[in-house]
Amino acid sequence: MQIISKLREYIPEKKGLLTGALFLSATSSLLGILPFVFIWLLVRELLNTQTPPSQALVSTYAWWASGTALGGVLLYFLALTLSHLAAFRLENNIRRQAMQKIVHFPLGFFDNNPSGRIRKIIDDNAGITHMFLAHQLPDLAGSILMPLISLVLLFVFDWRLGLACLIPIVTALTITRFMIGEQGRRIMREYMTSLEDMNAEAVEYVRGIPVVKVFQQTVFSFKNFYDSIIRYRDMVHSFAVTREKSLASYVTTIHAFAYILIPLSILLIGNSEDYSSILLDLIFYILITPVFAQCIMKNMYMNQAVGQAVEAIRRIEELTDVKQLDVTDDPQPITNHEIAFKEVSFTYPGNNSKAVEDIKFTIPQGKTYALVGPSGGGKTTIARFIPRFWDADTGQVSIGGVDVRDVAPKELMRHVSFVFQNTKLFKTSLIDNLRYGNAHASEEAVNRALDWAQCREIIDRLPNGLNTVIGSEGTYLSGGEQQRIALARAILKDAPVVVLDEATAFSDPENEHLIQRALNKLTQGKTVLTIAHRLNNVVDVDSILVIDKGAVVEQGKHEELLRKEGTYAGMWNEFQKSLQWTVGKEVCND
Ligand SMILES: Nc1ncnc2c1ncn2[C@@H]1O[C@H](COP(=O)(O)OP(=O)(O)OP(=O)(O)O)[C@@H](O)[C@H]1O
Ligand SMILES: [Mg+2]
Repeated sequence: MQIISKLREYIPEKKGLLTGALFLSATSSLLGILPFVFIWLLVRELLNTQTPPSQALVSTYAWWASGTALGGVLLYFLALTLSHLAAFRLENNIRRQAMQKIVHFPLGFFDNNPSGRIRKIIDDNAGITHMFLAHQLPDLAGSILMPLISLVLLFVFDWRLGLACLIPIVTALTITRFMIGEQGRRIMREYMTSLEDMNAEAVEYVRGIPVVKVFQQTVFSFKNFYDSIIRYRDMVHSFAVTREKSLASYVTTIHAFAYILIPLSILLIGNSEDYSSILLDLIFYILITPVFAQCIMKNMYMNQAVGQAVEAIRRIEELTDVKQLDVTDDPQPITNHEIAFKEVSFTYPGNNSKAVEDIKFTIPQGKTYALVGPSGGGKTTIARFIPRFWDADTGQVSIGGVDVRDVAPKELMRHVSFVFQNTKLFKTSLIDNLRYGNAHASEEAVNRALDWAQCREIIDRLPNGLNTVIGSEGTYLSGGEQQRIALARAILKDAPVVVLDEATAFSDPENEHLIQRALNKLTQGKTVLTIAHRLNNVVDVDSILVIDKGAVVEQGKHEELLRKEGTYAGMWNEFQKSLQWTVGKEVCND
C-alpha cells in the first residue's frame, strides 16, 4: 500500500514499529477467525447423531475457542500500542520536517502564507495522519486478511454454499468501487478544501471584528464567513445525498447472506440423504458471514481513512514544496557596501506578469537612495531583493560586487538591517525583543540604542521598564511606538546596509518627527535604500528613483527631478497641495 510506504519514509528510525504493528494485527486477525471454527466444531460434536458427544472434546474446543479469542484481543492491543508509538513519532516528524523546510524558504513566502494558515495546515494534517496510523493501521491488516481467510473458509466447508455467498459479496464490492475510486478521491479533496476555507474565513472574521465595528458593516462582513459555511453545508449535503442510495444498497446487500443461504440449504437438504452435514455447514456459514460483512464494512471505512491520510500528506507536501533559498557552497565575504542592481526582473510565483523589469541602479557605499512612486509600482519588491526575500529571476543584486546569492545567509543578515511597515514584536520582554538585533549587546548598548531611537519615554511609562513583557497585562504599544522599538533594534544591530520600507507611514506628525530622528541615527554613515511615501523625507537624499509599473522611470536629486517636470515633479506638486489642504483644514477646525 502506497500510503504505508509513504508514512514509513517519515519515520525511518521507527520503521520496525510499523512492521510490528502490521504483523501483530495480521496475527490477531488470524486468531479472530479461529474461535468461529472451534465453535463450529463444538456444535458439530454436540449435534452428532451417530455417537454421543465426547465431553473431553467439547471442553477442549470450548477452551480453544476462548483461548484464541482472548489471544486475538491481546495481540490487537499490542498492535495498537505499537501503532500509537509509531503515530506519535510520525506526527512529531511531520511537524519537524515541515518546520525545517519552512525555515529555509525565501522570506517572501511568509507574505503569501500567513503564520495562522501555515500552522493550521501542518497541525491539522499531521493530526489526521496520526489518527490514521494510531487507530486505523491495526485494522488495516485485518481488513485485508479477514475477508481473504473467510473467503477460503467459505469454500472449504461446502463449495455450493460458498458460491452462493459470492453473490452478495461481489455485488457489495462492485458498489464500493463506485463509492471510492477517482470520484471518491475528488469528493474527499473538495470536502477538505471547503473545511479549510470555512476555518480560514472564521479566523478572518474574528480578526476583522474591529474594522467591522468601526464601519458598521456587520452583515456584509459576515457574508464571506456565512458563504463559506453554506458552501461547506452544500458540499456535505450533496455528498450525503449522492452516497445515500449506494450506501443503502451496499448495507442491504452485504447483510443479505441469510436470504440466499437458507433457501439454498433447504433445496440441498431436499436433494440429499445427509441432511445433518448440510445443516452443520449452514450453521458455520451463519456464524461466519456476519464477520465477513463486518470486515467488508471495515474495509470501506479503511478506504475512506486511507483517502483522508493521502490527502493530508499531499496538503503538507504542497505547502512545503517551495523552492528553498539557494545556499552557496563557496560563500564570498562582503568587504564593501556598494549596492548594485543589474537588469533585475522578477515575477511573483503564480503571477503572469512581471512585478519589476530590467531594474538597474547603483548605490555607492555610505549613500542614501530613496524609492518613490505610485502604489503597486514595485518599490517593496525591489527593496526586498537585498535581504533576499526573493531572488531575481534574471539579473543580479550585489553588495560590494558580490552577488547576494554568493553570500552565506547569516553573513548577509549580519550586513543588512531592514525595517518594514508591519513590525513584529515578540511576546517577550522588551530587552529580549531588542536583543534579537544583537544577542550579545550589553544593557548599556541597549539603553543607548533606545535613546537614539527616541524610545526613552516609552520605557519610562512601562511598569517593569526594559523587563516588561510586550502584550501582557495590557502593555500594548501603538504602531508608531512599535516602529521606534524596531528602529532601536536595528540601531543595536548596527548593520552597514539599511533597507527601510514605509517606516514613517501612518504616524502622526509628532511620531513622524521622532521616527525621523531615530532614522537619522540608524542611517548615519550607512548605505541606505529607503521607500518614502511622504516626499518631504526625500528632499535631502543622495538620489531619488521614481518607480512606476515595475521600472525606474526617473532618477536624480530632488532639484534635478523638479527641473525635469516629469513624474516626480507632478508627485511633488500633489504632495504640496495635500500639505496645504491639511493646514487649511486645521485652520478651519480652529
Ligand atoms: N507577495 C506577492 N505575491 C504576488 N504579487 C505581489 C506580491 N507582493 C506584491 N505583488 C505585486 O507586485 C506588484 C508590485 O508590488 P509592490 O508591493 O512592490 O508595490 P509598491 O510600489 O511597494 O506599492 P505600495 O506603495 O502600495 O507599497 C503589484 O502589482 C503587486 O500586486
Ligand atoms: Mg510597498
